[in-house]
Amino acid sequence: MAVQISPSILSADFARLADEAEAVARDADWLHVDVMDNHFVPNLTLGLPIVESLLKAATLPVDCHLMIEDPDRWAPGYAEAGAASVTIHAEAASAPVRTLRTIRATGARAGLGINPATPVEPYADLLPEIDMLLIMTVEPGFGGQSFLDMVLPKVRRARELIDGRDLSVWLQVDGGVSEETVERCAEAGADVFVAGSAVYSAEDPGAACRSLRSLAEGATAR
Ligand code: DX5
Ligand code: ZN
Repeated sequence: MAVQISPSILSADFARLADEAEAVARDADWLHVDVMDNHFVPNLTLGLPIVESLLKAATLPVDCHLMIEDPDRWAPGYAEAGAASVTIHAEAASAPVRTLRTIRATGARAGLGINPATPVEPYADLLPEIDMLLIMTVEPGFGGQSFLDMVLPKVRRARELIDGRDLSVWLQVDGGVSEETVERCAEAGADVFVAGSAVYSAEDPGAACRSLRSLAEGATAR
């Protein structure tokens, strides 16, 4: 899988979302949108109405990361609205197989997310049901946190599980991904890189995406 960059608008200016999306439109592959409900995580961001507006304004495909309770109830709505990828959290889903299949039935890509302390092995049999595995490299809820190196062995094991089953599941890392950490993630086997503060705190968000991509590509080739 080629390296893909998914800037998180969590670190963008929420009053100028269309412009912030445009700022990375030529250099990123996705627009990562963090939906938080103040229950699954201790923070509140945005919901379906804002995602619907963003879908109209943005040219990049939208990658919705749902950090919410009861994703079985809410995730299909994001896929039906036109999000090209919808990720639910394993810790929050009651009926992940049904929900992932419902997401896929809309034509969207289905993602499964796991927190730093959640092992990947119990989800091995779910891999054929998903298009992307999201491994959190910080505790979910906030941008700008420090990357958790302790998650890297799990990224490696996830890559082995995916390749061992000959699946084309994308492996996304999210949290603390920056010029300092992106190579370690790529070497461990990640191929989709979410970056919030590293992109939107930069003077030139497009250039930040290019730099992350070239570092990840270099590390992947080694
Ligand atoms: C955190 C979110 C991330 C966040 C990452 O819970 O899921 O997508 O925006 O921000 P950085 O890249 O600043 O760690
Ligand atoms: Zn995220």
